[in-house]
Parts: sequence; C-alpha cells; structure tokens
Amino acid sequence: VTDMPTLLTDRVEIRPFVRGDRDVCRVLLGGEPEERDRWLEWTVRSPRELAALAQPPYGDRALVERATGRVVGAIGLVPSLLPLAPDGRGFTARSRPEVGLFWALLPEHRGRGYATEGARTVGAWALDKFGLERIIATTERDNSASIRVMERLGMRILHHGGPPEWLQVVGVWEHP
Ligand SMILES: CC(C)(COP(=O)(O)OP(=O)(O)OC[C@H]1O[C@@H](n2cnc3c(N)ncnc32)[C@H](O)[C@@H]1OP(=O)(O)O)[C@@H](O)C(=O)NCCC(=O)NCCS
Repeated sequence: VTDMPTLLTDRVEIRPFVRGDRDVCRVLLGGEPEERDRWLEWTVRSPRELAALAQPPYGDRALVERATGRVVGAIGLVPSLLPLAPDGRGFTARSRPEVGLFWALLPEHRGRGYATEGARTVGAWALDKFGLERIIATTERDNSASIRVMERLGMRILHHGGPPEWLQVVGVWEHP
C-alpha cells in the first residue's frame, strides 16, 4: 500500500481532501471555480487510483488545524522534473524526476508555523516510507515566505534562476 495515512502533529492533521472541502479549496487554491471543482474531484479520487497503480501518493492533502477542525491550507507531494545534479548540489543539462513538496496556507492562517509543521511531517514520512535520497521544493525568487519555509525545514537552498519562474529557487532536503 502506498497511500499516505492521516498524519498528526501537535497542532495539525494532514488528511485527504473530501468533496465537502469545495468552498475552502476555491479560496485557498484559486482559479476558475469550475476548474477548481474538477481539480477537487480528481484530488479526491487520486489517492485510491495511484495506490492501485503502486504509484507514490502524489497530490494535495488538507492541512487541518486540530484545535478547530478548520482546513487552513494544502500540503502534498508533487512529481517535479528538474535539472538537479545526481548529488543534489547543483544543476545539470538534463532533467530528472524528483519528489517535491508543495504547501499553501489561507492568508489568515499564515505566520503561525503551520506550513513548516505540516511539510516537516509529510517530508519525513515520504523520505522514510519510500527510502528517498532527498525531497525538493521549488519556488520563485521573490517568494520569500516559501523560501523561509525551506530554510526552517533545513533545506539546502540552490539558485537555478529559471526559466521557468518556479525553478528560480530550489530547496533540497537530503535523507539524514
Ligand atoms: C508559503 C506560505 C505557506 C508560508 O506561510 P507562513 O505562515 O509564512 O509559513 P509557516 O506556516 O511555516 O509559518 C512561519 C511563520 O510563522 C511564525 N510562527 C509563529 N508561530 C510559530 C510557531 N509556533 N512555529 C513556527 N513558526 C511560527 C514564524 O516566525 C514565521 O514567520 P516569519 O517567516 O515572518 O518569521 C504562505 O506564504 C503561502 O501560502 N503562500 C502562498 C502559496 C505559496 O506561495 N506556496 C508555495 C508555492 S512554491
């Protein structure tokens, strides 16, 4: 079984999205409402289908504040094709598939450490579960909040510069 179980930390729960999360997903992840609803349907179905194909549990999960039960953000594993060198310390001409981490919080729930707490838990679980060498994260040069999450996770920060823009900054979390 490759599905991700519900993960708990002191303050947050990481669980699969359900159809009842439609309204919060529209706000949290934006886009056209119909497009976001299609995405949610796919996200709700994908854990089972990926597990059936023995694939890693890629996709977003809901980040829930345990004290209130509210969805405060999204967190998950993303397949990421990028020209990171095999030793993870620089870049090469050819791309490789890497396992990436994604995070996003509703604006009113930022500044409390929820993204870092969730990402640390999902990342540690995936590194261990799949015996990964490393997990990466990518973002734009001016996304300082996301770069600070990478730093709090202890990621090594590399500057690729892009294009594309999301490849300007790469964080690398090596298996200890
Ligand atoms: C990127 C993003 C998730 C970061 O959110 P965030 O709230 O800054 O990150 P965290 O949840 O880790 O919170 C850390 C902040 O909370 C503060 N904090 C307060 N209490 C804390 C606690 N108990 N533990 C840790 N940090 C705490 C930290 O000091 C830090 O603030 P600082 O960076 O100003 O010092 C958020 O800006 C976001 O959703 N952006 C839009 C989506 C996005 O860009 N995603 C990334 C795509 S690549």
